[in-house]
Amino acid sequence: MTTKQTQRLGLTARSYSTKVPQQLDRRAFLKGGAMLGGLAAAGAGGIGTAVAANPENLPPNVPDWSRYLGAGVDAMPYGVPSEHEAHVVRRNVEWLTATSESSVNFTPLHELDGIITPNGLCFERHHGGIAEVEPEDHRLMIHGLVDRPLMFSMADLKRFPPISKIYFLECAANSGMEWRGAQLNGVQYTHGMVHCVQYTGVTLRTVLEACGLKPKAKWLHAEGADSAGMNRSVPLDKALDDCLLAYSQNGERLRPEQGYPLRLVVPGWEGNMWVKWIRRIEVGDMPWHTREETSKYTDLLEDGHARRFTWEMDVKSVITSPAPEKLVAGKGFQIVKGLAWSGRGAIKRVDVSVDGGRNWQTARLDEPVLSKSLTRFYYEWDWDGSPTLLQSRAIDDSGQVQPTMKALQEARGTNSIYHNNSIQTWLVNPTGEVENVRLA
Ligand code: MTE
Ligand code: CO
Repeated sequence: MTTKQTQRLGLTARSYSTKVPQQLDRRAFLKGGAMLGGLAAAGAGGIGTAVAANPENLPPNVPDWSRYLGAGVDAMPYGVPSEHEAHVVRRNVEWLTATSESSVNFTPLHELDGIITPNGLCFERHHGGIAEVEPEDHRLMIHGLVDRPLMFSMADLKRFPPISKIYFLECAANSGMEWRGAQLNGVQYTHGMVHCVQYTGVTLRTVLEACGLKPKAKWLHAEGADSAGMNRSVPLDKALDDCLLAYSQNGERLRPEQGYPLRLVVPGWEGNMWVKWIRRIEVGDMPWHTREETSKYTDLLEDGHARRFTWEMDVKSVITSPAPEKLVAGKGFQIVKGLAWSGRGAIKRVDVSVDGGRNWQTARLDEPVLSKSLTRFYYEWDWDGSPTLLQSRAIDDSGQVQPTMKALQEARGTNSIYHNNSIQTWLVNPTGEVENVRLA
């Protein structure tokens, strides 16, 4: 990427002020802030009024929506968010990839609450576009080192005992642009290649056992039905431990972009292994060393060697508000909000620093705190209006602590793209604007 390109998109960490991705109107924001202060001074509570309001709708007037009948129950057979939330969408960075079919878009983390990502906002990563699979014609074939090679229709798979589990999925390339310095000025872009939904499906163990595993079976080769035929090797131990063949997300069938009608769920491991539109599993005794685990999704170290099979997503966290898209609404009491996750287990603690990592305070973890799932944290902060370096640092129940970028680079160098789980720094300026910065 060139400096010109990043500036044009308003994505360079230092070129924030006017060209923010969200097109925030700073004057409207400041006006709203002033109103908030005024209401508070008048003793009216003053919470939730930080946008320019139409006085005709405010008490003691009766707003339009209270005067007339609303739309009936037939208006929207499948509901969508309010038109006032139309800015809450997945976004891509056009210059990042040559085509939109082999590309990625990002989850708007700064706009979400709790830990569940709404289906329509789950980031997408495709190598050959979204396959349009006819569910009736889709088959999952299992062969290789099994007693009975079998082919399953979707109806067959739904006859197995279902199980539902909440897991995060993070692309190994999440935060990959940030290895050498602060690049993208928005949490949607620096950390938005993660989503967390409740999957329903059948355990991979159940289906493999139906085929009967031969004693020599040690590895699987999972392959998708998209035009990329994306494929990965998965060790059998993991497959038998907690992998799922999922047909639903958040209570409804998978979305086409998430692998409809069937995807592999590989909890805690890099998103690339979660083969979408899965059509074939071959059981073998060795890994296949496919493209996606050799030339891609390996980390080039300083000495020229590459790390092999970097499956687990290490402990990580990020503050989602304030963030470059979420300005600080004036001095005083703030709730800092964020997300933490670990592919090795559950989040044990999240610390927040307001001085660039010199001192740390413990954040409050919101329930539920689930293994290999996003965890929501909150921290109460009284901002004095001076420039502030905000950071969060997660610790998981395996004892792993989220590293600084300095520590990560000492271990892995600067050639990496994948597996950047380092601590993110947001600089809060006295104006309330927030920038992505890198501490030396
Ligand atoms: N499976 C197939 N068949 N084709 C793909 O392009 N992309 C992989 C993985 N599974 C991919 C795939 C990558 S790199 C990631 S990060 C996740 O799917 C993304 O899942 P999502 O689109 O649900 O976010
Ligand atoms: Co990926």
